[in-house]
Amino acid sequence: MALKEQSIVVAGGGSTFTPGIIMMLLENLDKFPIRQIKFYDNDYDRQKQIADATEIILKERAPQIKFVATTDPEEAFTDIDFVMAHIRVGKYAMREKDEKIPLKYGVVGQETCGPGGIAYGMRSIGGVLELVDYMEKYSPDAWMLNYSNPAAIVAEATRKLRPNSKIINICDMPVGIEARMAEILGLESRKDMTIRYYGLNHFGWWTDIRDKDGNDLMPKIKEHVAEHGYVTPGELNGRPEEEIEPSWMHTFGKAKEVYALDPKVLPNTYLKYYFYPQDEVEHSNPEHTRANEVMENREKKVFSECNRIANIKTAKDAKLVTDDHASYIVDLARAIAYNTRERMLLIVPNNGSIVNFDPTAMVEIPCIVGSQGPEPLTMGEIPRFQKGLMEQQVGVEKLVVEAWAEGSYQKLWQALTLSRIVPNARIAKQILDDLIEANKEYWPELV
Ligand code: NAD
Ligand code: G6P
Ligand code: MN
Repeated sequence: MALKEQSIVVAGGGSTFTPGIIMMLLENLDKFPIRQIKFYDNDYDRQKQIADATEIILKERAPQIKFVATTDPEEAFTDIDFVMAHIRVGKYAMREKDEKIPLKYGVVGQETCGPGGIAYGMRSIGGVLELVDYMEKYSPDAWMLNYSNPAAIVAEATRKLRPNSKIINICDMPVGIEARMAEILGLESRKDMTIRYYGLNHFGWWTDIRDKDGNDLMPKIKEHVAEHGYVTPGELNGRPEEEIEPSWMHTFGKAKEVYALDPKVLPNTYLKYYFYPQDEVEHSNPEHTRANEVMENREKKVFSECNRIANIKTAKDAKLVTDDHASYIVDLARAIAYNTRERMLLIVPNNGSIVNFDPTAMVEIPCIVGSQGPEPLTMGEIPRFQKGLMEQQVGVEKLVVEAWAEGSYQKLWQALTLSRIVPNARIAKQILDDLIEANKEYWPELV
């Protein structure tokens, strides 16, 4: 039977990840046929640069797909099956402030962790809720696959404030690390492994990894991680599968120290910010953070390549490549569109899956995904150390959403103080006051 052709809107059409996602969609048209792609962004000029190149790519490689780029929500969200959302409210200019303001006080400055993540969350909530509302107004049967960050806070906001909406929050970090594990094991694909994992987004652990015959793969991965973190054998030998920036290599190496604290499980890389915050601060340059790196590298590369394609009016020699890990987005869309019942890690309400944890927490756990959405698997009881960490962190995330919804200064101050990364309430307040000043345009008024 022929698969039904899908209509998609990419929200955040101007994202640096959009071309990679388009290339990935084009590579998967046999599995996920598409009749229409729309781009939606609230920055016309930024989106236009990506859209002009995309138009040429589609004309050359898949002329049957109808393509529209717009800043008009009605046009964008009408006649849609899937919203693929990756917006960055405030763009890199604000990411730079999220990273640099905490660093002024000797505190980790990071996109999704600690004060930077909280600040970004306070901007993202309104932006993502707006997308959900457009989707429900113009295509009430559609699903939103959201990877706009900070996914943990965004997920809690949609759970609390749009409880009936069809939105699934996802992250590429676990699949990225699993690809590294597969390389460590010499497997062809991460899909040769069946995993158990639980935690919050950017805050979790693998507890079991098996091959298709049920053999335990954890010991071999652990042996490698204990020595090299998630740096792959290829990278150790100077023959990497792909060139990774030094800051990410540092993160993959640091997983060795993160693992050492809790060696029964394998950690998500983001735990480094919570276990070794001082190391991260020492390693940071407060004048030049990850936002600067991304602006100088990925953003520059993607936009200049798109502009080049638009100028020469052909994408025959385009240097835009598929973002490997982005194929999980097609797996998820396929699962819903064609009821594939694929097993995937998603951010969903706990609802008893982790038995000894808040049922209303948004947790990242394996789910079976079909046309009705995700069915989470039971993860059982978790140990005190991880539970303690998760309770503190979920408290931060819930306080941020409450602060946003109620316009509460006090709750946001509490959220910052509760974050493991912030040393005390006084520093929390100083950072908060600077963040309020910087985010005037984006945050609700706090009283
Ligand atoms: P980017 O700044 O290049 O792109 C974001 C786009 O969103 C911009 O074009 C901007 O104009 C647009 N935008 C901002 N606010 C909007 C709004 N209210 N409505 C419509 N459009 C809006 O950012 P990027 O680095 O490409 O990242 C995009 C997003 O994807 C970020 O949230 C990032 O954190 C996230 N991301 C998530 C994962 C994951 O694992 N979940 C992985 C990679 C990136
Ligand atoms: C990983 C995370 C994303 C995050 C990204 C940051 O992929 O899962 O949530 O946005 O890293 O990468 P960047 O290259 O923008 O620093
Ligand atoms: Mn992520």
